Amino acid sequence: MDAARREEIEIELFVQALRMRYGYDFSQYAHASFKRRVQNLAMHFGCANIAQMTERVLHDTALIPEVIAQLSVPVSEMFRDPEVFECLRRDIFPVLASYPHFNIWHAGCAHGEEIYSMAILLQEAGLYERAQIYATDISAQALETAKDGIYAARHLQQWAANYLRAGGQRTLSDYFHSRYGHLKLDESLNRNIVFAQHNLAADGVFCEAHLILCRNVLIYFKPDLQRRAVELFRTSLVRGGHLCLGTKESLTFTGCAASFGVVSGRNALYRLLDHGTHD
Ligand SMILES: C[S@@+](CC[C@H](N)C(=O)[O-])C[C@H]1O[C@@H](n2cnc3c(N)ncnc32)[C@H](O)[C@@H]1O
Repeated sequence: MDAARREEIEIELFVQALRMRYGYDFSQYAHASFKRRVQNLAMHFGCANIAQMTERVLHDTALIPEVIAQLSVPVSEMFRDPEVFECLRRDIFPVLASYPHFNIWHAGCAHGEEIYSMAILLQEAGLYERAQIYATDISAQALETAKDGIYAARHLQQWAANYLRAGGQRTLSDYFHSRYGHLKLDESLNRNIVFAQHNLAADGVFCEAHLILCRNVLIYFKPDLQRRAVELFRTSLVRGGHLCLGTKESLTFTGCAASFGVVSGRNALYRLLDHGTHD
């Protein structure tokens, strides 16, 4: 048996071990990128091969937060794809403004950059007090970073440019305090945010949402898991609620496209149609 085939078997056994021992099911993740992350994880733990890592992970529960963090790509930036935020601000905020209270769910929120981007724009639109923001991710470690809201200062220039392109009305640094070469977001932005671990591959409806953002998460999933996640969003949205995916993602092939109208194809922004709801 060649080395490549042996490694495929080791990866399959690693996935089984995570599922059977800890309930984390990565079997529906797109294979090529997942395989790279498993290989990197074995190196990260200093293991000679994946089988050796599987044995360690099976016997040492304390490794799990690190394993999940390394397998789940918590890469993000503030006001990522600024035109998406500009579109949300222009087209969706007026809809949110028609509710006395509304819920926004960020599924796969990584280190929180997307949540705080939304919080800033809501504050500038005078809508923050009416908002309840739910920030979820599979990774407990990513959520801890998100809660802290502390980021490396080197990002500021890029994020400040994104903020202006998204239609920000002030200067992004107004929302940060400098702390030992890092930037800490103003804590007033945290008031209406609930952070919670939620796994799109295993867990059920999380909240009743007026807007759901799940950006740059589905690209890591195989079609069956994409379908599961989108079905979960469909069930979670209020009538007429909005769903925003990543710009490289779409509802095509999820089996749910007919339940949604396209608000902006370029920005992967959809509205749940009345006949798309269950009631
Ligand atoms: C690339 S980041 C996207 C962050 C942000 N939404 C953005 O677009 O910038 C992908 C996030 O999805 C999370 N994720 C991966 N699998 C998940 C799952 N099964 N359930 C919930 N979150 C998941 C990862 O932990 C990671 O934080």
